[in-house]
Amino acid sequence: MSAKVICVTNQKGGVGKTTTAVNLAYYLAKDKFKTLLIDFDPQGNATSGLGIDKANGLEGTMTEVVLGEAKLEAIIKPTKYKNYDLAPTTPELANAEVEITSQNKKFTRLRDAIRTVSDNYDYIIIDLPPSLSLLTVNGMIASNYLLLPVQTEFYALEGVAQLLESMKLVMKQANPSLKLLGVLATMYDRRTSLSAQVYDEIKKYFKQLTFKTTIPRNVRVAEAPSHGVPVGAYDKFSKGAKAYKEFTKEVEERTK
Ligand SMILES: Nc1ncnc2c1ncn2[C@@H]1O[C@H](COP(=O)(O)OP(=O)(O)OP(=O)(O)O)[C@@H](O)[C@H]1O
Ligand SMILES: [Mg+2]
Repeated sequence: MSAKVICVTNQKGGVGKTTTAVNLAYYLAKDKFKTLLIDFDPQGNATSGLGIDKANGLEGTMTEVVLGEAKLEAIIKPTKYKNYDLAPTTPELANAEVEITSQNKKFTRLRDAIRTVSDNYDYIIIDLPPSLSLLTVNGMIASNYLLLPVQTEFYALEGVAQLLESMKLVMKQANPSLKLLGVLATMYDRRTSLSAQVYDEIKKYFKQLTFKTTIPRNVRVAEAPSHGVPVGAYDKFSKGAKAYKEFTKEVEERTK
């Protein structure tokens, strides 16, 4: 059996992509699915959010994998959590992206790497950068599903049409089986009517593709990465942790 591959993407910055990737992977692993999180953003927020220091002594990373200098299997590191592995990255991934631009197979580096480990996992989650870059296209080509987190704020859907265009192009040119897994409303603030309005707008646009679970704006979610842990390990009773747990069940249901 090969893994179900899900990329988490939105070219808008700071909408909760990394938070969603780290915590979805955490709860999938907790539900006994063998899970690999691939940090494919040069910012390396998923890497540091899991307590791995990007600056010091990271031997193998996605940078080497993209450049063809290391096998994916060789750079994968176990996390503190059972069934939860991480393929870390460093800021040099940005240089690697530039370097491969003029090379062969620049669009399928990630897909080809994932194929070599796919049988070892139930789920592979890819955290992507806030851009429609070559890295993002690699992520879309490597995936079965695209997961779109949208911040319930003003301008939430800005850029989404462009993202869906890119997705369509990828489907037409390289990966016809790519599916939109769903749209997740993040940083939902119950105290303002804006969040509710934006959530309604998302539902109007995406209909049943909108996840029923919304992720509340919750200080424990924001604090967890500074302790290098997913929110479920930091404070499993927090509203944010409970929401990610529930959201994970929806993902499991949709990918059955
Ligand atoms: N539900 C939440 N409640 C409170 N803070 C949150 C929540 N989700 C994310 N944050 C915080 O908001 C910031 C942006 O989140 P995150 O890094 O997950 O977004 P991103 O889309 O990955 O950003 P980028 O585009 O830079 O990669 C982070 O500081 C994160 O801790
Ligand atoms: Mg991020």
